[in-house]
Amino acid sequence: MNTRLDSSAPGRVERGNGLFGVYVHWPFCAAKCPYCDFNSHVHRGAFDEATYVRSYAREIAHFAALTPGRKVQSVFFGGGTPSLMDPRSVAGILDAIGQHWEIDSKAEITLEANPTSVEAGRFKGYRAAGVNRVSLGVQSLRDGPLAELGRRHSVDEAIAAVRLAQSIFPRSSFDLIYARPRQTLDDWKDELTEALWLAQGHVSLYQLTIEMGTRYYDLFQAGKLKMPDEDLSVDFYELTQELTANAGLPAYEISNHARPGQESRHNLLYWRYGEYVGVGPGAHGRLLIGNQRHATAAEKLPFDWQQKVAARGHGLVTDDVLSWEEEGDELLVMGLRLREGIDPKRFAQLSGRAISDRQIAELKSIGFVETLPNGFIRVTDRGWPVLDAVVADLAA
Ligand SMILES: C[S@@+](CC[C@H](N)C(=O)[O-])C[C@H]1O[C@@H](n2cnc3c(N)ncnc32)[C@H](O)[C@@H]1O
Ligand code: SF4
Repeated sequence: MNTRLDSSAPGRVERGNGLFGVYVHWPFCAAKCPYCDFNSHVHRGAFDEATYVRSYAREIAHFAALTPGRKVQSVFFGGGTPSLMDPRSVAGILDAIGQHWEIDSKAEITLEANPTSVEAGRFKGYRAAGVNRVSLGVQSLRDGPLAELGRRHSVDEAIAAVRLAQSIFPRSSFDLIYARPRQTLDDWKDELTEALWLAQGHVSLYQLTIEMGTRYYDLFQAGKLKMPDEDLSVDFYELTQELTANAGLPAYEISNHARPGQESRHNLLYWRYGEYVGVGPGAHGRLLIGNQRHATAAEKLPFDWQQKVAARGHGLVTDDVLSWEEEGDELLVMGLRLREGIDPKRFAQLSGRAISDRQIAELKSIGFVETLPNGFIRVTDRGWPVLDAVVADLAA
């Protein structure tokens, strides 16, 4: 563990913004998809889920002792594939959360689900356990690409799962991956148009990225996966913005689109740089302890994590106190993904320095950022395709 403090930090300021949520990572999947670098594992052999879930309750107790008195506004079961969980496990984890913190009566409780028929069969159980929002990994509305992506569901199964979710949960969303090998703009236009008919309040639309350590990475390196060039990627992105806005689900974040009011509150908490506990293997957290922001990360391997929790009550392998500069950088990286932008006053409070007027003026002159009437700074439509570079300029 590494604890770094910035001795040049200015006087005490409020580092939190009142947002508090819990992320629960379920690390298991039925199979590993060739593009995915999330902390997901296929386990074979006997598995005692009820015993495994008890480690979550223990870790929750550990984090709750560090963050007493908070009110939970959102819980997110992410993975891996949380829809492989027995609904009783989901209920048990929610109970453990409720034993240690007050859960807001309007809390958003999301579970990520894969849209196979088997998993859809558990939806009612999740709803009874307290889940009020599901996010389904549809990935494509075309059977050929679904098979190439290694998915274990068909388009018909996915559509049925989306409709079932819409009838059981008050809110739902689904994910699609676009800018795939050989996909044309016309293909995507048709596919996304169909998706927007199907969607209710929210969709997440991700351009395929090639992640190191995946099978797609090896194929790409070997020249066997032809990805769109930069210009075509920007065209894909712009088409996506246009179609979603016309359908009434504009982007509120670089890859997330919602009808106003239907945004994912849990994800907004990350992007607005709130406080969150990360429970489970590989989960990350940002905890405010003694007015310092701790960046935590847990052991990734599911059974090593379980052993660590058994030995000492938590599975953390990292607990770093962030310097004020690091907090400022994180606020920019997270907040500039949002359409609402960032409050430069909060940046200055957290980091102890202002964003350079000269940098802002330069980025404005090329049309990459703008200042809103409320004083927030945001990245423009033109700046979004080069977001990383804009963030780096503002952080410099
Ligand atoms: C934790 S993952 C998936 C959750 C769930 N197991 C599933 O597969 O549906 C969350 C989302 O990230 C997106 N994703 C994962 N890897 C990606 C990649 N390499 N490029 C683009 N999107 C990716 C997918 O849309 C996926 O639904
Ligand atoms: S995309 Fe989802 S199902 Fe596939 S390996 Fe990643 S987490 Fe598991």
